[in-house]
Amino acid sequence: FHNMDRGWLGTPIDELNRMPQCAPPLSHLKAAPHHTVTVRTDLLREGEVPVPYPGKFKDAWDDVFVKMPCSEKNLFPLETEDGGGVQSRWELIRTALQGGFKSSLDVRDAILRYNIAHAKKWDFTALNLLCTEYLEHSELQHLCEIVLPAMVDLALRAPVLCTMPIPLLKSRMNHSLTLSQEQIACLLANAFFCTFPRRNSRKSEYCNYPEINFYRLFDGSSPRKIEKLKTLLCYFRRVTQTKPKGLVTFTRQMLNNPPNWESSQTQLKRLHITCEGTIEDDGYGMLQVDFANRLVGGGVTGHGLVQEEIRFLINTELIVSRLFTEALEHNECLIVTGTEQYSKYTGYAESYKWKTSHKDETARDDWQRRCTEIVAIDALKFRHFLEQFLPEKITRELNKAYCGFFRNKANSKHLSAVATGNWGCGAFGGDTRLKALIQLMAAAEAGRDLAYFTFGDAQLMRDVHEIHTFLTERQVTVGRLYNLLNQYSSSVCKNCRTTRPDISLYSFIHEKVSSPTPTDAPESAKDSG
Ligand code: AR6
Repeated sequence: FHNMDRGWLGTPIDELNRMPQCAPPLSHLKAAPHHTVTVRTDLLREGEVPVPYPGKFKDAWDDVFVKMPCSEKNLFPLETEDGGGVQSRWELIRTALQGGFKSSLDVRDAILRYNIAHAKKWDFTALNLLCTEYLEHSELQHLCEIVLPAMVDLALRAPVLCTMPIPLLKSRMNHSLTLSQEQIACLLANAFFCTFPRRNSRKSEYCNYPEINFYRLFDGSSPRKIEKLKTLLCYFRRVTQTKPKGLVTFTRQMLNNPPNWESSQTQLKRLHITCEGTIEDDGYGMLQVDFANRLVGGGVTGHGLVQEEIRFLINTELIVSRLFTEALEHNECLIVTGTEQYSKYTGYAESYKWKTSHKDETARDDWQRRCTEIVAIDALKFRHFLEQFLPEKITRELNKAYCGFFRNKANSKHLSAVATGNWGCGAFGGDTRLKALIQLMAAAEAGRDLAYFTFGDAQLMRDVHEIHTFLTERQVTVGRLYNLLNQYSSSVCKNCRTTRPDISLYSFIHEKVSSPTPTDAPESAKDSG
């Protein structure tokens, strides 16, 4: 009975830490200077819909909070005989959306009434195609008569549901925001109907934020858009049928003091590696890596459909992070705790298909959040393969991963394992073998084991397992490994005349560790020699 036949190597996955078992009890949920909580924490009860806080809509229209569609400052130019004048845009949104929908054309017309400037540019072909070619007659009827009107009601409840101004999570801020799933559903219904002001052009004041209004999802005739819309409509069907009762926390985390990689004495931690399964299915309870874009969610509201976009579609509440998360800097990440999975899918990218609705049974923590922790870390995009071996690029990726994995004041034995895979190695063109080592080093420094999903690549599984075993047996420290990576860069990559190095990274490491020359020897050996 070889575990090779089972498609995995290393530590059995059940020996790795998962939430909620591994963590000590949470402290009582309460708002703090670094934590905005938009519900009544004193009334939070399992199985009950959280109560928004404060009781009455508090308006904010400045550069530290999200500009809400229902703000009284959200104005619309009024074309009158004598030229000038303005009207409340929220009033216009309400009138436009409450007219009822007989077909997707009515949805288009309603959205364009308060987005007149875009009437010529925005295209609703995909939404139209979905309704006319893909849905059964009864499904279309259900959409127009039940789901869309319920989405309208949900969107228009913004002034009673989202009463507290939502802080923008800006660069260099360490801040958490806890919203209820119902508030998120309301915000996402507004995103669907494209009501967020100042968010329809990347040139505006929100140029350093991801897109939130859904208009690009409706355009073109690509089957991708159809499947994305099906996934999103499944979410809206679910949350309008039954109010979700939990909370979700979004934490922007900045790394102040990066580790001193060069002198780190840390040993690698345990590794489970498999060529089967996925981060989301088999990494439950672990810290799950989102292979992110610096604009979180990447192309989820547009054409993109790889790891990050798929995760945002199925765990739909992730999409709301785009409303308030400024582009991530090199030393920043976004941690999202508590999202729920609403859909199952098959395929990937071009072959992605919405499969069915998914009932998420993940346990909730004491803050009524699903025990699902996802961290958005954006790798660097490499155009030339050799670029990534430059010491400054390696350091950047180490710090980015470490920022995602590190938890302040946490005891290693209470930390869940990291569930990851080919981070930065698809759309972003990175080398899987280098990135696997980088993630092992960052996880070790943060005190966490790693579960690595190679996404079908059995050779990668064997190679990474082999080097991990070798490095662990030889007790090679993170610092030593860091110096070996730098040596590889200067002695192999720098002089390389082709697009790929002629000695592989792992054979280089093997050779150096097996027969060290004096300069390669570990610090301690140098001292004593
Ligand atoms: N579980 C495990 N591994 C996976 C999964 C999964 N569910 N899905 C994909 N992989 P990619 P990147 C593997 O290209 O290179 C997005 O647009 C699979 O081998 O999504 O970091 C973002 O918004 C795949 O080739 O990540 C960014 O703009 C590899 O992971 C950009 O892509 C990399 O997945 C990030 O690109």
